[in-house]
Amino acid sequence: MSDAPKHKHLVFSGMQPTNTLHLGNYLGALKNWVKIQNDMPCIYCVVDMHAITQDVGYGRPAELAQATREVAAAYIAAGVDLKKSLVFNQARVPAHAELAWIFNCVARLGWLDRMTQFKEKSGKHKERASVGLYTYPTLMAADILAYKATHVPVGEDQKQHLELSRDIAQKFNNDFSVPDFFPLPEPVITGPGTRVMSLRDGAKKMSKSDDSDYSRINLTDDADAIAQKIRKAKTDPAPLPDSEKGLEGRPEAENLFNIYAALADEPRARVVAQFAGQQFSGFKNALAELAVAKLTPIAAEMRRLLADPGEIDRVLADGAMRAGAIAGPVLAEVKRLVGFLH
Ligand code: TRP
Repeated sequence: MSDAPKHKHLVFSGMQPTNTLHLGNYLGALKNWVKIQNDMPCIYCVVDMHAITQDVGYGRPAELAQATREVAAAYIAAGVDLKKSLVFNQARVPAHAELAWIFNCVARLGWLDRMTQFKEKSGKHKERASVGLYTYPTLMAADILAYKATHVPVGEDQKQHLELSRDIAQKFNNDFSVPDFFPLPEPVITGPGTRVMSLRDGAKKMSKSDDSDYSRINLTDDADAIAQKIRKAKTDPAPLPDSEKGLEGRPEAENLFNIYAALADEPRARVVAQFAGQQFSGFKNALAELAVAKLTPIAAEMRRLLADPGEIDRVLADGAMRAGAIAGPVLAEVKRLVGFLH
């Protein structure tokens, strides 16, 4: 890592509390968050301020609060260890909003104009999108840089936002003549096989916004629902392949093998070899059993945690206090550099 000597390694990542989490969130993000805790200190945020940039999060206070608790519970149930990592919700630590304002003045309109996610999310009527949706990436940069985080586990879709965070860090360092003040945070792109596709269409990502609940496995699904969804998953008529090459051009089969390999923590080639020559039905039964074994304990732990919302709220408040203690001095230094009396 280019900035390794100057900045202590620190991980920051976050998820929006906009809806129930699914297998894609688990295999694509949470599972890796849990792993990386052994390598460096980690900060995992529930980004509730990002959640109000779109209608799904805006105007439903009770739902937002509950979704925030659920996402925090999912982090912990998936294995985020509160002894190693900080877990809190973004709105509780004012440094995020304060630094985001300063970054709004560092970032250029031209940079934000290039963000493809804004174009997708704002759709045909960009003039009706919230200003917050447009400046979302500067808040994300503030999330990361308020802690001088060096490593950011993100999916492919967030890479462009992370590049913008680097551009903001670089420009701030240049403009205020503090060459090494902010690190240039590196993406930790999660390995192959963690891009989970819809169970109904191997060309589409598994998504919380898909109309069909059969397209995704929710982290809170019970054993019957998980097994049903896997048995009904779309496949093709060809027999199971005997090598990874045989998965080419068969997106649904490939997705199921990716899911199996990721859940089992085994190389995909080994999984393909194990089932070579068998029927889809047998493979699906094995996958259903594996998915039930791996996912239902997470759902049970989430339910246990959510049964005591007071406890989750205490965890989040404690995490926020400790996060604030890290971000506070960074923000104070930024204010001094900018020239704010504070
Ligand atoms: N934008 C991210 C997403 O939608 C969530 C996010 C907000 C985030 N702040 C972050 C991710 C900081 C990593 C680091 O997935």
